[in-house]
Amino acid sequence: MKILVVGSGGREHALAWKLAQSERVTELYIAPGNPGTAALAGSRAGLKVENIAIKSDDVAGLLNFARKEAIDLTVVGPEIPLVMGIVDDFEKAGLRAWGPSKAASELEGSKVAMKEFLRRYNIPTAAFKIFDDAAEAHEYIEEVGAPIVIKCDGLAAGKGVTVAQTEDEAHDAVTRMMENHQFGKEAGSHLIIEEILEGEEISVFAFCDGHNALILDTAQDHKQVFDGDRGPNTGGMGAFTPAPGLMSEADEDVVVSRILLPTLSGLVKEGRPYVGILYMGLMLTNKGPRVIEYNVRFGDPECQPLMLRLQNDLVDICEACIDGKLDTITLDWSDDTAICVTLASGGYPGSYENGKAITAVEEAAAEKGVTVFHAGTSKKNGVLYTAGGRVLSVCAQGEDLTAAREVAYAASEAITFDGKHYRNDIGCRTEAR
Ligand code: AMP
Ligand code: GLY
Repeated sequence: MKILVVGSGGREHALAWKLAQSERVTELYIAPGNPGTAALAGSRAGLKVENIAIKSDDVAGLLNFARKEAIDLTVVGPEIPLVMGIVDDFEKAGLRAWGPSKAASELEGSKVAMKEFLRRYNIPTAAFKIFDDAAEAHEYIEEVGAPIVIKCDGLAAGKGVTVAQTEDEAHDAVTRMMENHQFGKEAGSHLIIEEILEGEEISVFAFCDGHNALILDTAQDHKQVFDGDRGPNTGGMGAFTPAPGLMSEADEDVVVSRILLPTLSGLVKEGRPYVGILYMGLMLTNKGPRVIEYNVRFGDPECQPLMLRLQNDLVDICEACIDGKLDTITLDWSDDTAICVTLASGGYPGSYENGKAITAVEEAAAEKGVTVFHAGTSKKNGVLYTAGGRVLSVCAQGEDLTAAREVAYAASEAITFDGKHYRNDIGCRTEAR
């Protein structure tokens, strides 16, 4: 089979790494990929691997390539091509692409549409109000006070949300999003103001074939940049799986019966069945789980440790999603723990410089239990350089969280680049429990 992976982050390196292990795959292309995906060449005899210089949001370019090469299956990593409708365009051309349609991707593409969907099906979420006028939004903040959460409508790379502890912060967020158009005119034309949810945040992932869903093993992300969940939100500073003891059985029941199943049946009813991976971002409040958001793709970095522990052939799963046959699959997980530590550029999630030389990646990756996925890296004359905010996903597997942490942190320390920073407490709260 010929497979195309769309994207260039740590998530896509992990997906490509997993697909490269499938005996069914003979050719693997990654567009645009990164130095880590390029290095998958030679990972298995009889497998051809190549990075293709087409950006992940160049849907027409990707379609052209897939047609020319007669790609059998395209696995889409990031949300932007999904929200643009890559799966519909491929289908129209008679090509198979794994991921939700444009209509189903609206769950991530528009927070306003997502909240309205939740309301239509009575799915538990934070109480909210939608605003298209800045003055009214300011007035509402005066009325209800802080803490309060302000969200802009469209995609903002995970940065369009302000959890405001004070009224001043809330007013400032409205001004930035709606009046100064920080995330563009479109995204700032509607705002959601919603109640703050307190509790433990958890990501629940499910493979979906439209009607059936398979929930993946538990994983937890660490969104804030600094230890102890302090500082601004990032794309994700680390994750681990499994995350035991986070959800009670009662919570799990609610997630399935009041969140996952109504989501799938609601989308079927609306003529946009969900195919691919559904990411439910939940807050476990003292009144039970609440949906914070849906994403229409794997979490990054949660995907990296999950792929390390998934024992099934990922090609089989993707095909079963597309063919409506997920009921024929049982997910199989290794019984170890996998952890991912994000090594980030100095200044991230604010501004940072690229082009810092990176050392000791291969040495660190050669240690037992370590897998290093590339995210923001580039390679010139055999030397690796930083080329993004999140640079490397340093992953490790161990018999338990303590063992996995030890190995991952030894590797994270050994790898060097100017400005490198990472969180030291990935998995610590769970470990303490
Ligand atoms: P989102 O892009 O909607 O996932 O929001 C980004 C992050 O903001 C989430 O992962 C949460 O940590 C936080 N957040 C969003 N909405 C709320 C809320 N209603 N209450 C508390 N925290 C929230
Ligand atoms: N890990 C959070 C995200 O992918 O959005």
